[in-house]
Amino acid sequence: MAGRVAGKVALVTGAARGQGRSHCLRLAEEGADIIAIDICKQIDTVTSYEMGTRAELDETVAQVEKLGRRIVAREADVRDLDSITEAVKDGVEELGRLDVVVANAGIVGYGKTWEFTVEEWRDLMDVNLNGIWNTTKAAIPILIEAGRGGSMVFTSSLAGTKGFANVGHYVTAKHGMIGLMRVLSAELGPHFIRVNTVNPTCVDTPMIQHQTSYDIFVPNVENPTMEQAGAAMAAMNSIPIPWLEPVDVSNAIVFLASDDARYITGVDLPVDAGARVK
Ligand SMILES: NC(=O)c1ccc[n+]([C@@H]2O[C@H](COP(=O)([O-])OP(=O)(O)OC[C@H]3O[C@@H](n4cnc5c(N)ncnc54)[C@H](O)[C@@H]3O)[C@@H](O)[C@H]2O)c1
Repeated sequence: MAGRVAGKVALVTGAARGQGRSHCLRLAEEGADIIAIDICKQIDTVTSYEMGTRAELDETVAQVEKLGRRIVAREADVRDLDSITEAVKDGVEELGRLDVVVANAGIVGYGKTWEFTVEEWRDLMDVNLNGIWNTTKAAIPILIEAGRGGSMVFTSSLAGTKGFANVGHYVTAKHGMIGLMRVLSAELGPHFIRVNTVNPTCVDTPMIQHQTSYDIFVPNVENPTMEQAGAAMAAMNSIPIPWLEPVDVSNAIVFLASDDARYITGVDLPVDAGARVK
């Protein structure tokens, strides 16, 4: 059976690990070739967990190739328009086209909104909001010129539709990208380029599996465990699971990327075990 995105080329940012790697693998399983981008180094203001590495990006490459698909992987920083434009250009030159854009790269930090340093606020907005715009700015001219339409999906969050204490910059950026998605959806409809977001609840990746995150979710216990944090995360959702698996988000992305969703645009799609309505 032909895959649901057979013959297409998909760009995924934040592809070294976590959800980004899972998106690469699910899209490849469904027949797409992949342009994989990750910064592969630490940003100074991300202090509570390790970001993706070159070794992890290489592992994404190996796993995609094992599925029999082609992949072009580049170290690039979504904060830097030149670096992302160059990486996308390289990928398109090698793979011949571009159809799907998954703007997934993101970081998180913690603190009271008025206590963030200028650098903490700026870095997070630069990655999680400006980085999305940079990714679209690099990709849209290529999609328009090819004239075959396309699908762009941004990774927002449950935090893109609700306020959460201690992550004010993150909530602001995740709300902001929904605005960008709506505008681009209106602007790009005439080109048959669709633009949507996915809005996950907690997902089992290194971004949330660390002690600072557990401390935030369980503020009244000293050094809470993963199990205690999981119980607090489960309490947010209607379906009482602590976290999604990355593939749960990837499956939504495959749907939005595929022609099954050919007239779906301008949507912020919850993938959240019912957290938004609880
Ligand atoms: N994990 C969760 O609970 C959760 C929930 C909702 C939304 N999200 C969002 O999902 C997306 C993926 O996160 P994840 O959970 O897979 O976390 P993750 O930390 O495992 O993966 C994020 C990847 O993005 C890369 N990255 C970060 N900044 C970059 C930059 N400037 N340029 C290029 N690459 C960069 C990192 O190196 C890393 O490999 C993020 O946008 C995140 O905000 C996560």
